[in-house]
Amino acid sequence: MTGKLFVIGTGPGNPEQMTPQTRAAVREATDFYGYGPYLDRLDLRSDQRKQVSDNREELDRASAALRAAATGATVCVVSGGDPGVFAMAAAICEAVDDGPDEWRTIDLTVLPGITAMLAVAARVGAPLGHDFCAISLSDNLKPWNIIENRLELAARAGFVIALYNPISKARPWQLGKAFELLRTLLPATTPVIFGRAAGRHDEKITVQRLADANVANADMATCVIIGSPETKIVARDGRPDLVYTPRFIAGGKN
Ligand SMILES: C[S@@+](CC[C@H](N)C(=O)[O-])C[C@H]1O[C@@H](n2cnc3c(N)ncnc32)[C@H](O)[C@@H]1O
Repeated sequence: MTGKLFVIGTGPGNPEQMTPQTRAAVREATDFYGYGPYLDRLDLRSDQRKQVSDNREELDRASAALRAAATGATVCVVSGGDPGVFAMAAAICEAVDDGPDEWRTIDLTVLPGITAMLAVAARVGAPLGHDFCAISLSDNLKPWNIIENRLELAARAGFVIALYNPISKARPWQLGKAFELLRTLLPATTPVIFGRAAGRHDEKITVQRLADANVANADMATCVIIGSPETKIVARDGRPDLVYTPRFIAGGKN
């Protein structure tokens, strides 16, 4: 008997940023697989089972969840944010791609969630208002020279850049290197937003200019958004600055 597998995202941390569709999947599922802090964001009933695993064991977790679904369970694999953005949906697809044929018959549903860059952007205005890209700064699963190349091309192309996984104890220097490179390509005044723990009780949003951007504002719960040359800061009396990227660039049709 083949079961069902939902791949869900909790959103960035604020329970109100978990979608109703995701909540319905959580009510339906019997078995949950994920990193402990993400599973803790769900209000599970006593009859629902949790399989907690470390954040780095994604492929093992994906295989365990697929095995459970193949035996008839209704399974939920849980990511933070959106499950398709640097998260478990790709790990599940990799496991299906390389796994036994029966895993291809599982009723698999990936449900979209609010990803970190959207939560951070919304806190300051609209920095993602025009073309943008997202890059993971982690060189665990790809070589550093590819990351540098993508940063350079994205900056040259005028994209706003959202950086995920900017820094960790095991990866302390990558964000500093990225800033060094971007300072050679972008105006010194380019706004940089450090969105830490967006939507959580310990949220901290810091806006600096690229010339002064300080890596100490980032930790592994931070999404860093680097503006394009069009991105602006609007000062407001008694309220935080607005940061936005206009919808137009000179020379467009309107
Ligand atoms: C492995 S990625 C997972 C991304 C997640 N799937 C998403 O869509 O947001 C982890 C990175 O997401 C970012 N992140 C996750 N939650 C965040 C939050 N509440 N505020 C800011 N950044 C966050 C950080 O850059 C962190 O290093």
